[in-house]
Amino acid sequence: MKIEDNFETFNSLIRRKFIWGPSPEIYGGLAGFYSYAPSGMALKNNILNLFRRELQYFGFGEVECPTIMPEIVWRASGHLERFIDPVLRCKKCNTLYRADKFLQEQLPDLMIDGLSFQAMEDLIKKHNLACPNCGNTFTKIEEYNLMLKTQVGNNVTAYLRPETATTTYLLFNRLNQDARRQYPIRICQFGKAYRNEISPRQGVLRMRAFDQLELQLFIGKQQEMEFEDYEEIKDKILPLLDWKLQEKNIVKPEKISLETTINTKILKKPAYAYCLYITYYLTRILGFPEEVIRLRQHSINERAHYADDAWDLEIKTKQFGWVEICGVHDRTNYDLRRHGEFSKQNFNINMSSDSETKEIPQILEIAFGIDRIIYTLLETNFNVEEGRINLKLNPNLAPNIVAVFPLVKNKENIRKLALSVHRDLLENRINSFYDASGSIGKRYRRQDEIGTMYCVTIDYDSLEDNSVTLRFRDTMKQDRVNINELVEIIRNKLRTFK
Ligand code: GLY
Repeated sequence: MKIEDNFETFNSLIRRKFIWGPSPEIYGGLAGFYSYAPSGMALKNNILNLFRRELQYFGFGEVECPTIMPEIVWRASGHLERFIDPVLRCKKCNTLYRADKFLQEQLPDLMIDGLSFQAMEDLIKKHNLACPNCGNTFTKIEEYNLMLKTQVGNNVTAYLRPETATTTYLLFNRLNQDARRQYPIRICQFGKAYRNEISPRQGVLRMRAFDQLELQLFIGKQQEMEFEDYEEIKDKILPLLDWKLQEKNIVKPEKISLETTINTKILKKPAYAYCLYITYYLTRILGFPEEVIRLRQHSINERAHYADDAWDLEIKTKQFGWVEICGVHDRTNYDLRRHGEFSKQNFNINMSSDSETKEIPQILEIAFGIDRIIYTLLETNFNVEEGRINLKLNPNLAPNIVAVFPLVKNKENIRKLALSVHRDLLENRINSFYDASGSIGKRYRRQDEIGTMYCVTIDYDSLEDNSVTLRFRDTMKQDRVNINELVEIIRNKLRTFK
């Protein structure tokens, strides 16, 4: 069967090899919930390993908090009152639609992000939009809270966290002590967050249970403006699309240095510019090319309730247009102010041992959605070439770095030698996968489609001269190499990747 280069081939690859669901599949599935297959989980872990290594370099420590918190937390954070999406309800069949997403689908040429409720209603009227299900009109846009409620014990109302960030902020007294008041305090948290999305339709892009990696900078007001680390990155050029450009219906970002953004007041704070840089840097080392990345500023209407400034890092996808994989938020001292008030703790502190003045620390946040990274990374690297799928992942992120094949499986000497090559790679901590089943051609295809960079085949000649075939994913070129040199050859090749 000929492999076509289309969405169907790509979606079927994701569903077969990376993400299964909606879960639980054997009971018909619940929309918005998915499970990771072994290859998907390996990819996720590799992304996290790379991020954790780099975050250590940027000075971030990591915490882990409970995913369920009592109601008072979410009252204080503002999520109970203001963590809402606009919804349209059909007057006849009662179907709910998320208003902004519905409008973007119906009117793809318009910029819907950032419109007020009233502006969205005006568009519905102007274009006579009706319920796709039954053709009837909608009620006025309603507010829909995204929090998932639960009960702890038999009488404590609690909510599943809609972000990791708030749970990190609750540790503030501890963090302040632990860091011995050396600001900025840089802390990240990885883990599940939950949102009760209205009719999630974009598959794995809109999960109701999803993974976040959120980075928080607790920082003084003055330090935000005189931030040392900014000096090192201020000439970096980033693809930025500020709100003013969007108002002119421009969608292409401008390449602009961070120093210019500060001088021209596109950004207010050097420390925030630094956060945009980290976001861009981490995205680039995953292997996203420059052309598919933009950083887009939110309008006032689009910003979350806690944000004074917000930019999304978005990836251009073929299937869903620009997709947000990270939000960068200037949360000011909103969160600590509110949690201080509600918990009656004093977060108005002396931020260094040699300062007299007290303040409630500001927070700058970088919020990555890991599942969205996985989707966009797979789409960006997906290729159909000469009748085969070639997933051109950074080899360090691919589920397997090497795959080892005995040419035939029932020839004992070949099988033994192949297993010893496979074990030797593992001993040297090079991730190897052993596959003895199916034709060699099919075994290559199975590895190409999950991004394995190197395949090693052991054949009859190997028994004679201790050599193997080393085959490269992208060129399909094959070299004959000595088994004793294999580990070093692969190690050297891997060094050229992050
Ligand atoms: N913590 C920010 C977000 O979840 O988008």
